[in-house]
Amino acid sequence: MSEGMATVSYIGATILFILSLGGLSNPESSRRGNLYGMIGMALAVVATIFGPRVSPAGIGWIVGAMVAGGAIGLYAARTVQMTQMPELVALMHSLVGLAAMLVGFASYVDPAASAGFSGAEKTIHEAEIYIGILIGAVTFSGSIIAFGKLSGKIGGKPLLLPGRHWMNLAGLLVVIWMGRQFLHAESIPQGMTPLVIMTIIALLFGIHMVMAIGGADMPVVVSMLNSYSGWAAAATGFMLSNDLLIVTGALVGSSGAILSYIMCKAMNRHFISVIAGGFGTGGGTPAAPAGGAQPAGEVVPISAVETAELLRDAKSVIIVPGYGMAVAQAQHTVYEITRYLREKGVTVRFGIHPVAGRMPGHMNVLLAEAKVPYDIVMEMDEINEDFPTTDVAMVIGANDIVNPGAQDDPTSPIAGMPVLEVWKARTSIVMKRSMASGYAGVDNPLFYKENNRMLFGDAKKMLDEVLAAMKA
Ligand code: TAP
Repeated sequence: MSEGMATVSYIGATILFILSLGGLSNPESSRRGNLYGMIGMALAVVATIFGPRVSPAGIGWIVGAMVAGGAIGLYAARTVQMTQMPELVALMHSLVGLAAMLVGFASYVDPAASAGFSGAEKTIHEAEIYIGILIGAVTFSGSIIAFGKLSGKIGGKPLLLPGRHWMNLAGLLVVIWMGRQFLHAESIPQGMTPLVIMTIIALLFGIHMVMAIGGADMPVVVSMLNSYSGWAAAATGFMLSNDLLIVTGALVGSSGAILSYIMCKAMNRHFISVIAGGFGTGGGTPAAPAGGAQPAGEVVPISAVETAELLRDAKSVIIVPGYGMAVAQAQHTVYEITRYLREKGVTVRFGIHPVAGRMPGHMNVLLAEAKVPYDIVMEMDEINEDFPTTDVAMVIGANDIVNPGAQDDPTSPIAGMPVLEVWKARTSIVMKRSMASGYAGVDNPLFYKENNRMLFGDAKKMLDEVLAAMKA
């Protein structure tokens, strides 16, 4: 493929990536968005392999690596549970960081990669390598820790070392100093020492940064690492002088940054305080297990048959799904119930919290899979004021996102996080297996409210029983 042809293909791929992002912003156009992304990526890969930069002798290696990587990816995609998706994503981000690091070192030691650079151009090339490895190392180690935390292999509690901000500042100063040494090095072996020292500091910083972030802030961390992986890819693009990689990396980097901003807003958090760490500990001191005042009162259980009666007699119902619905894979039964109630003239809508589940858009994906119509799936801000005029609010496997303590208890670790106000409905029904807390580890005063009922059991099993009772 000629240079011109490769450039045209790259421009085509860039346009397809932008269309893909546009498509993914809406559930109705998301399939199309995915398709654009796949075609764009196929075009990019073909144009790169057969482009002027790859010698025919190298094609065999690339195809071999693609087959091996593709097989692993296919296996992972087929076997991973929907609830394990965030861990998988974190692991994939770590690979982008690792690739940026390796490409950086390879570009530095490969005489062919730096041939033709001298003076200011050489300095710019080396600065690209330094920054690329820096971002890559932080992304790599940070994502590995995020994977550990999300999969429960590492505890969710933030690790708050004494003087941690000073440690980070000292690390930053050493990295800047090493950068100076690196740029002034007269030979590759001489430059290697500051490069390796910086890499070690960046790896430790990535670990430290994510370890300091509490469980409740993990949604922001996942999207932040997504953004970092984009910048790491863009840095790789600079090192390899590959325009498409720069543009694609920048698209991922900026969209990840926007998503982090949206997540922070949804949780009423400042981005800087998330990065500084400690959320979930009441501002630096370990939280009381129940997150402030212990809720008091009685919990009133309800049976599936009674739930069915309440739903059938209602005029309006709002369903609030959470992580438990994903675990139980109850979305199809939820749809069956919705359809049945709608046929009987009941107004049924869904209230979706921006951080429900374990990844952005988790609930929307599950409901779309179960064919729930998009027009009855509302965002938190759109539906919150309708709870007082709603007969039944049915909470399915959700906990933190419906915790009134976030509004009423300033000592709660999730204080200030906007929540779905289900307790304002005439009756709220919470469906979960036990009185256990949710992801943030906070007790939930909702369970003890007078108008609340608890339907204990696995969400899928209980909803099957509710559906059967409703039809009986
Ligand atoms: P959670 O607060 O984690 O509550 C989920 C509840 O589901 C649990 O209390 C659990 O109670 C119940 N459950 C689990 N398996 C169940 C099953 N088979 N049947 C019925 N119930 C089941 O979830 P949420 O309300 O969706 O809130 C999300 C939380 O995750 C927030 O704290 C958020 O910050 C965090 N988070 C979100 C993301 C993103 S991006 N969405 C990423 C990481 C973390 P039982 O054990 O008693 O059944």
